Amino acid sequence: MGQRNSDGAVPDTLGGLTRTHYCGEIRDRDIGAAAVLMGWVHRKRDLGGLLFLHLRDRSGISQVVFNAETHPEAHAKAETLRHEYVIAVEGPIVRRSEDTYNPNLDTGTVELVAHRLTVLNTSETPPFQMDDDAQANVGEEMRLKYRYIDLRRPRMQRNVQLRHAVNLAIRKSFNSQGFLEIETPFMTRSTPEGARDFLVPSRIQPGTMYALPQSPQIFKQLLMVGGCDRYFQIVRCFRDEDLRADRQPEFTQIDVEMSFVQQDGVLEVIERLIGHVCEAAGAAAPSTPLPRIAYSEAMELYGSDKPDLRLPPMAVVTDVLEPGELPMSGPLVAIRTPSVGKLTRREREQFRGYARELNLRVFDDFRGLTKKMPGQMAAVRERLQAQEGDFLALVTGLQPAEGPRPDEAVLSGAGSLRRQMAQTFSDRHGLLRDDDLRFLWVTDFPMFDWDPTERRWSPAHHPFTSPHEHDIPKLTGDPGACRSNAYDLVLNGVELGSGSIRIHRQDVQSKVFEAIGLSPEEASHRFGFFLEALRYGTPPHGGIALGLDRLVMLLAGESTIRDVIPFPKTGKGTDLMCEAPNTVPPRSLAELGIALRVRPKS
Ligand code: AMO
Repeated sequence: MGQRNSDGAVPDTLGGLTRTHYCGEIRDRDIGAAAVLMGWVHRKRDLGGLLFLHLRDRSGISQVVFNAETHPEAHAKAETLRHEYVIAVEGPIVRRSEDTYNPNLDTGTVELVAHRLTVLNTSETPPFQMDDDAQANVGEEMRLKYRYIDLRRPRMQRNVQLRHAVNLAIRKSFNSQGFLEIETPFMTRSTPEGARDFLVPSRIQPGTMYALPQSPQIFKQLLMVGGCDRYFQIVRCFRDEDLRADRQPEFTQIDVEMSFVQQDGVLEVIERLIGHVCEAAGAAAPSTPLPRIAYSEAMELYGSDKPDLRLPPMAVVTDVLEPGELPMSGPLVAIRTPSVGKLTRREREQFRGYARELNLRVFDDFRGLTKKMPGQMAAVRERLQAQEGDFLALVTGLQPAEGPRPDEAVLSGAGSLRRQMAQTFSDRHGLLRDDDLRFLWVTDFPMFDWDPTERRWSPAHHPFTSPHEHDIPKLTGDPGACRSNAYDLVLNGVELGSGSIRIHRQDVQSKVFEAIGLSPEEASHRFGFFLEALRYGTPPHGGIALGLDRLVMLLAGESTIRDVIPFPKTGKGTDLMCEAPNTVPPRSLAELGIALRVRPKS
């Protein structure tokens, strides 16, 4: 006799039963087949003599009907079923009568007539229903605490399966392009990205720590030194940074490195990859080559280094006005939100509120401006290619900006304002459609960013990114004007990936270290073994890493990467299901030679 469950029930055994079909896959072609379906009780409708079940597995839902007259034993047993019981049903697949077709189910024209029911397991009442409405109705904390239940929902199943399809397409695509999948260590030392490392204490080497990799950057470059030529890996990376909807402390990169290439070579490989991935995900592959926009142009046209091409560009119109015609600080930028019609007073206030938060001065009474300066505003309209019903506004700084690229503060403020407006009114203009996938490359990034707290230049990408050949002389004299061979892949306003052609010449590497104020001793301390390796015949090489979670999120039309990661962390970096991170017994700490100074929050 079997073990009792917590509710006292003793489930049946699977015995020799074999599943013949997945629930979501039965169709007209299966009519007449003797079928065995297995899955979870999704819904139950008891009409007395007839009892209808929706049976669910990872592929979808089938209707099962129990008839008290023809199969009283199965029917009586079915009456005891509750939500999420795990069952097997045996019987023929039949056509439903036409008036009971269910257009919401792929299996809606057929059903299984149950001759026999096996209850494989009972279930306690789940904390929420396995419907996709749960995403809107159940708090995310609840979903994460009971993630194994949340995963049963069709939408999560679709996301898990999509991720599998994308992974498979990635491997096939790289294989067809001559790449080798190579694994790199998780227990290593700090990497150069600059964000924070998760540390793992060593028991055997007391007082020392491994770092979990923020990316395999150094290893993949060493693989090029090691002659591996074309590498890829679908790899977990770890970063102890502040979290957002598109950031997790552990996330997955599609990591790539190639030898003997320049920028075009890398971009072409990735464009083919994107085509293969879109195809596998059932999305239209973008036409290639993808648009390429230089960083400076992206800032000027979109006020962002991750432009959303679904929205129209903005225009710098400083030159359209005579000096003094409008109070300005920095450039004057015209923005357009298409097809929103007239704003209500409240909406206009909301717009001004956004602008204030962004430290911008706005002129949003376009009709008034046109009365005052008809010629100038006609020119603005033309530059924006404005249409009837668009909302137009002019934007400038509130006060002079500091830093090496002062105009960027206004440009990026205007870019954020434009995006916020577009999101606020997305239901009116219908432009921000999830299935409109607009990929592009942003190239020619600045080599360095100014760090106002440290008061020095820091690498915009990482210190192994090569500068433009003709900017090498500026490395030490005018670092702010130096452009790099770095590129980002952007999709609908999200940074999908980042990469660069690396430095393979020692003289250039030394100049870059000098530009960021890293002495030869410090450089050798931080990257010694790597710099040494570069001396032994390093081929020209470059690569990129794409965020797999972000890619799948956008392909799935989700708004957070948590929905495409089976077991994600919360915004506070915790795992609510297994309650990690957790404290460890003093004995474990002692063995590692660790004494804690902070008392964990209880
Ligand atoms: P980078 O740091 O830009 O580059 O990362 C590459 C891509 O990884 C994704 N990503 C993340 N996704 C989720 N959560 C995070 N916390 C997170 N951080 C980054 C993004 C990003 O574009 N080694 C270099 C790449 C290279 O030069 O080849 C690197 O890691 O989609």
